Amino acid sequence: MARRLALVALSTLLILSPATDGGGGGGGAVQAEPIVPAVISFGDSTIDVGNNNYLPGAVFKANYEPYGVNYDRHEPTGRFSDGKIVTDITAESLGFESSSPPYLSPHASGKSLLAGANFASAASSYLDDTAAMYDAITLTQQLKYYEEYQSKLAAVAGRRRARAILSGALYVVSTGTGDFIQNYYHNASLSRRYNVDQYCDLLVGTFSGFANVSIYAAVAVSATPSVNAW
Ligand SMILES: *[C@@H]1O[C@H](CO)[C@@H](O)[C@H](O)[C@H]1NC(C)=O
Ligand SMILES: *[C@@H]1O[C@H](CO)[C@@H](O)[C@H](O)[C@H]1NC(C)=O
Repeated sequence: MARRLALVALSTLLILSPATDGGGGGGGAVQAEPIVPAVISFGDSTIDVGNNNYLPGAVFKANYEPYGVNYDRHEPTGRFSDGKIVTDITAESLGFESSSPPYLSPHASGKSLLAGANFASAASSYLDDTAAMYDAITLTQQLKYYEEYQSKLAAVAGRRRARAILSGALYVVSTGTGDFIQNYYHNASLSRRYNVDQYCDLLVGTFSGFANVSIYAAVAVSATPSVNAW
């Protein structure tokens, strides 16, 4: 079914690139400029670089071996992998030295904010209920952190450069499987209430709201000086 296929595509990896005038805007004087000014990530364990390690109650944490054994320091990093994850490969392919630190880490401050931010949290998904069951960061909260990030970025880069970074950034969303494997298939009342197509509609609706209203609107607002709320 078309809808189900659409959701599989959504749940795998979604890359949003706002159609704006791109980065530039007085970037640093580094020789090899990355292709985009920043990468901003939302989602679940597929792109979480360690946020859950900073959540006392999180059920899923990649803070023990064999996680990380093939990463640079051969120790767990919070990534759900023995080595790099797609977040790292994406950042490096675009010309960054490495991916941004987890937003909740103390390293996500100062100049490191210039290259983007990662709000993803293992066991999060489109529905806040799914994330809440595992004390992960809900998508709603990830967006709140994104708003907070915008102000912090403006403080570090200045408003004009922050606007250029936000509008030229690559936005990556990778999530959705948890709504099925952690939630729908375990909750009889949910599966009685919605068949799979209806549940997909619910998720697609949540995603549309997230992508359109929140990200695009946030970028549009931040890119429009007259309604700039910083
Ligand atoms: C099942 O889903 C419903 C509707 O989202 C929710 O109210 C209920 O708490 C869930 N039950 C369990 C056991 O998670
Ligand atoms: C996106 O948001 C705008 C403004 O809120 C709305 O008019 C438009 O219909 C939305 N588009 C989609 C695809 O949801």
